[in-house]
Amino acid sequence: MSIKVAVIGGGGRVGSNAAFALQCGRIVREILLVDVNAELAGGEALDLMHGAALCADQVIRAGDTAAAADADVVCITAGSRRKPDESRLDLINRNVSIFKGILDDLKKNRLKPGAIIFVVSNPVDILTRMAIEHLGWPSNQVLGLGTVLDTSRFCSIIADAKKLPATQVKALILGEHGDTMSPIWSSATVAGVPLAKLLSVNEQNELFKRTQGSGAEVIRRKGGAGYAVGLGIAEVIHAIALDSRRILPVSSRMTGQYGMREVCLSIPTVVGRSGVVEAMEVELWPKEVQGLSGSAKALAETWSKLK
Ligand SMILES: NC(=O)c1ccc[n+]([C@@H]2O[C@H](COP(=O)([O-])OP(=O)(O)OC[C@H]3O[C@@H](n4cnc5c(N)ncnc54)[C@H](O)[C@@H]3O)[C@@H](O)[C@H]2O)c1
Repeated sequence: MSIKVAVIGGGGRVGSNAAFALQCGRIVREILLVDVNAELAGGEALDLMHGAALCADQVIRAGDTAAAADADVVCITAGSRRKPDESRLDLINRNVSIFKGILDDLKKNRLKPGAIIFVVSNPVDILTRMAIEHLGWPSNQVLGLGTVLDTSRFCSIIADAKKLPATQVKALILGEHGDTMSPIWSSATVAGVPLAKLLSVNEQNELFKRTQGSGAEVIRRKGGAGYAVGLGIAEVIHAIALDSRRILPVSSRMTGQYGMREVCLSIPTVVGRSGVVEAMEVELWPKEVQGLSGSAKALAETWSKLK
């Protein structure tokens, strides 16, 4: 087993569910939970550690930011959740100051060179950009969960509705993890068969609408997302740990793809031990490229308000 992962916000729902997914994945060597609510993080770490004998030889414990200094991946899930009727961008004012405080703390504790910052807190695309600018790190070492969860929801919802095997459905959501996200039907397949030909336009629109609303639905019904986002986080961390170069829709800083620069959002991205290996400009339908531009515009506007 390879790497040490620190989860900042590890006492919360997303952080603790991610830790459980990492435990079940049996790939990382050590999981550290850090939270302002130290008692809660301690309890979660204890509960997870109790299962070690049934799962894997991992070190699982709670600690402070200083204990995260030798982590290979620092996953930040700290912050407030959305209210059901609130957009992710509305969260910004509440989460930005918490987030900057965490980055300052990490800076003070001197993370090891080559460590990866993995942002999950919302609004994730804005906070990913903030981490790059605030830390002054090479941008490949900072990535956000982006539309990994939306993409999993999209594939799972399509599979559930059409009685298809979920792991054989490949349908991306790209752009902002938020209101302007775009469904990518041009490359959507099940077992290699194009989905755009299997599903009517009405069905496509309906399935995307359900996906878009599914985050708010989970919040309304159980308070917040946990299991699926935990699995999504583990998917990205495992790609880093194993240097597997999996292509995932994580959020990263654009360097000219589709004419976009500076802004962080999701396009298909090769993920490996160095973090972002390559954010790929793949061929998309014109309306899908327009969708990405819409996300970039919305995110740039929010960013400029922040400054
Ligand atoms: N990117 C995604 O796909 C995605 C999906 C779901 C949730 N989220 C986001 O994840 C975040 C966490 O959601 P949650 O449901 O786990 O919330 P939660 O309230 O259950 O947990 C947040 C945790 O952060 C801790 N915290 C607050 N400030 C901290 C600090 N300065 N240092 C360390 N810990 C701190 C809190 O004590 C709490 O335990 C939210 O911003 C939410 O919007 C993102």
